[in-house]
Amino acid sequence: MSMKKFFGGNKYTPNGYSKEVEEKVQDCIRRGYHVPKRTLLRSKEQIEGIREAGKINKALLDYITPLVKEGVTTAEIDHAVYAFTTDHDAIPAPFLYEGFPKSSCISINDVVCHGIPSTKEVIKDGDIVNVDLTTIYKGYFADASRMFMIGNVSEENQKLVRVAKECRDIGVEMAKPWARLGDIGEAIQKHAESNGYSVVRDLCGHGCGVKFHEDPNVNHYGKAGTGMVLVPGMTFTIEPMINMGKFQVFIDEDDGWTVCTEDGLPSAQWESHILITETGNEILCE
Ligand code: MF3
Ligand code: CO
Ligand code: CO
Repeated sequence: MSMKKFFGGNKYTPNGYSKEVEEKVQDCIRRGYHVPKRTLLRSKEQIEGIREAGKINKALLDYITPLVKEGVTTAEIDHAVYAFTTDHDAIPAPFLYEGFPKSSCISINDVVCHGIPSTKEVIKDGDIVNVDLTTIYKGYFADASRMFMIGNVSEENQKLVRVAKECRDIGVEMAKPWARLGDIGEAIQKHAESNGYSVVRDLCGHGCGVKFHEDPNVNHYGKAGTGMVLVPGMTFTIEPMINMGKFQVFIDEDDGWTVCTEDGLPSAQWESHILITETGNEILCE
């Protein structure tokens, strides 16, 4: 088969990508590497849409920040999320997503993720709180979360929150074109475990942008040099859940959502949503 026919008939990248990217992907395919499905590479138009969703989601995280304090219920924060989002002609992605009943996930102390906001849950002094928000704008998704420390947080828990953020940042640093997903996982796992913590295995980061949860799964543990090749145009989250104790978790049987640490020790998480570019990455929301 002539090269001309090969490229003409099997072009991998959407319009607007450089010839260099196209050639590098074709080279990865020849080498037998696991490359993303073509539909996971965003068009220029999709990137612009996801960027706009990211701006709103970031403004939303900033907006709720002063509300995350002692004495406030998680339901009050959730109502603010719903109001701000709809005021911006956007939709809170969690609401009725696979039956999830609220507009945000708020996860405190030993709750790892997917905490359901409630009028009965009051934020108290010493809590470490994750607020995870996802916004849909003009059909595009942006997903990010931050930790909040309430009043007098123990030194131990402060360190957990700090190291969890470092894990996320190290993961983002590893996310560049032609690296592998395993490079991200290994770097995060090494940092967490060298601090005596563990990385949750049962939940992962994910492709995000055109849908809430898309391929690939982004594990926060693993082996460098393995897994999918990262290609410019991919959009995904890095959101390591770092446990002070063991990595095992369970889902609350009563609500079917709330994920808790099995040993009852605290967990922390920060989530970034990124775009792989030709030179590195762009943070779409964090
Ligand atoms: N935002 C979460 C994530 O980072 C997903 C929440 S799903 C929900 O993937 F239904 F609980 F909202
Ligand atoms: Co996510
Ligand atoms: Co999220």
